[in-house]
Amino acid sequence: MDKKQLIAKLDREGILPADDLAQLLRGLDSEETELLSGCARRKAVSLYGKSVYIRGIVEFTNYCRNDCRYCGIRRSNTRADRYRLSKNEILSACEGGYRSGFRTFVLQGGEDMHYTDSDICEIVKAIKDRWPECAVTLSIGERSRSGYESYYAAGADRFLLRQETSSPSHYAYLHPETMSLANRKRCLDDLKDIGYQTGCGIMVGSPGQTIENIVQDLLYMKDFVPHMIGIGPFIPHKDTPFANEPAGDAGLCLRVLSITRLMLPKVLLPSTTALGTAVSDGRLQGILAGANVIMPNITPPRGRCRYILYDGQIGTEGDTQEDLKRIGDDLKSIGYFADMGRGDSIM
Ligand code: 5AD
Repeated sequence: MDKKQLIAKLDREGILPADDLAQLLRGLDSEETELLSGCARRKAVSLYGKSVYIRGIVEFTNYCRNDCRYCGIRRSNTRADRYRLSKNEILSACEGGYRSGFRTFVLQGGEDMHYTDSDICEIVKAIKDRWPECAVTLSIGERSRSGYESYYAAGADRFLLRQETSSPSHYAYLHPETMSLANRKRCLDDLKDIGYQTGCGIMVGSPGQTIENIVQDLLYMKDFVPHMIGIGPFIPHKDTPFANEPAGDAGLCLRVLSITRLMLPKVLLPSTTALGTAVSDGRLQGILAGANVIMPNITPPRGRCRYILYDGQIGTEGDTQEDLKRIGDDLKSIGYFADMGRGDSIM
């Protein structure tokens, strides 16, 4: 089968043998690329219309106990200027977000054990008390099952935790010895089992990643059936061991997004900040490749200028209002619109 036939088959059946997925990932000419993204885009539109869900991210701490080799807020980066937001600062960020129309708040941070399980529960409860119609998403890394259960009981609706890679040896190359893919998967299984709308995902083009690794990730995700999948290109950060590694290929990232949409049609798929950083209209290209979520930053300035995961990260100085306006205008220019509703999973 030629690549166009493979794309048509993937569109019809939602799966391809590993070797065929690898072929599509390795490279497509412009006609094939348009065919793949067109299929993915039509699939997204058939389920979600031309709406793109908007979520507000609050980056509430950049302290992290982990030492991931790719990440700008890794523990051993002594040049990272650390901060924590208080519960009140987090609530006022949500307040501002609410007034701008946001109905999903994503609390994201490094793995900062300063916030105990009961602190997290208190924060979640306070948000849900004040805005019961809003969804709360946590993105705070690996915790115990009982911790996850307590946040869920406190009202958290969703949880994002990228597996980063589905290959144990590649995982070990990206992460310190204290971390393992097995534990990451344990967390993801627990989260889904507890009842969270669960998100996983990967970086595209992280150091040491092969095309076969990406295929493994696609097959893992097809099998896991997450509600959300975060995919963005790797971008080096100057104060990490991967400072001199090349950034991930944006074209490859777009192909991974499209293939993901065809393999998991209903999944919530953000067009990520990293993609928007890698290419100037990256977030729009992501939507045109089948993504259907954009997550602007609603962190107060004191935090957002310090929460730097990679070089050139966009949205670290902008203002939410302006950002929202630009996203709305950009989406309109391609015939889409920003949907500020909760946007729950339809799985
Ligand atoms: N480049 C791109 N993405 C990164 N992340 C962390 N560091 C980088 C980087 N250098 C991603 C990880 C993490 C998410 C919050 O940000 O995939 O899960």
